[in-house]
Amino acid sequence: MKITVVGAGGNVGSAAALTVAQRDFANEVVLVDIERKDGEKTFYPSKGRALDQWQTASIHGFDTRVKGTVDYADTANSDICIITAGVPRKPGMSRDDLLSINANIVKTVTQNLVKYSPDTVIIVVSNPLDVMTYVAWKASGLPAEKVMGMAGILDTARYRSFLAEELNVSPKDIQALILGGHGDTMVPLPRYTTVSGIPVTQLISKEKLDAIIERTKVGGGELVGLMGTSAWFAPGAAAAQMAEAIALDQNRIFPCAAYLTGQFGVNELYSGVPVKLGKGGIKEIIEIELDADEQALMDNSCAAVRGVLEDLQRIQNS
Ligand code: NAI
Ligand code: 2OP
Repeated sequence: MKITVVGAGGNVGSAAALTVAQRDFANEVVLVDIERKDGEKTFYPSKGRALDQWQTASIHGFDTRVKGTVDYADTANSDICIITAGVPRKPGMSRDDLLSINANIVKTVTQNLVKYSPDTVIIVVSNPLDVMTYVAWKASGLPAEKVMGMAGILDTARYRSFLAEELNVSPKDIQALILGGHGDTMVPLPRYTTVSGIPVTQLISKEKLDAIIERTKVGGGELVGLMGTSAWFAPGAAAAQMAEAIALDQNRIFPCAAYLTGQFGVNELYSGVPVKLGKGGIKEIIEIELDADEQALMDNSCAAVRGVLEDLQRIQNS
């Protein structure tokens, strides 16, 4: 089992790669990034991060061989590729500029990956998540079940951590589901949230639950406010958990960004929905029943994703 992570000289990619290695389900994890020039000097973050991580193998006790490279030939025959490559928004850069730059990066990275691994499964992490996953799918030429985005596991993990703290229970005992795009319009579903099977609404007041839902929706922004950059431990761990489910054919049910062709009333768009993950990628999109209010929130979230996709298409056609 060979896993490649692109953008792994950065925060999320290196966290994903290290989690993959620590969980020890792959023979090899390959970290890819670009060279960085600083005056006369050239740095190789992917090689540095890989060497550093490999040197934790005897401490953590894993056998997964960690390698760093700037050459896609080294990624050949990867079973799973995780894409975290992108640039952060810089002063003077518009939202459209960022969208266009990251779309070009994700497109190029995807083309390079499938050139050497034509049958791979791709997990996209780069933002804006749902649209970048669409870009990767189009660029890959792969069937949609092999190209998916990571966001729902992260958003749900944040929601579960807040609930665990409030209820003073183990986060492991909280089961939850969040639908929709990765952004402030995401749709946490209290009706599908339980603590060891007990509906969460029996354990917490509506006011407290509503406050946790609102905190979850802006969970990424809370961390940016604390650190001046976005989170990486939980995002990296979430991407690695998807890779593990696929690598080990676990048939795990997770919320992931999947290409919808009518499910949940959404057509030709990537958005977060419950899927069964196993060998080959998404085995099934699980279409749960939504009430009128939940459907309205899902529609609103998908409209926001479609707006970003249309912005990208407008930029590309101008
Ligand atoms: P970062 O800046 O630390 O890392 C990004 C890496 O991508 C850098 O090392 C950069 O050199 C590399 N890169 C840029 N262009 C490249 C190219 N053409 N080929 C290969 N590598 C390239 O950023 P960070 O914090 O790791 O975030 C990565 C992405 O993940 C961002 O788009 C961020 O918004 C997104 N993200 C998504 C989350 C989600 O839930 N889906 C959660 C957290 C972050
Ligand atoms: C996050 O949710 C910013 O998407 C990033 O942490």
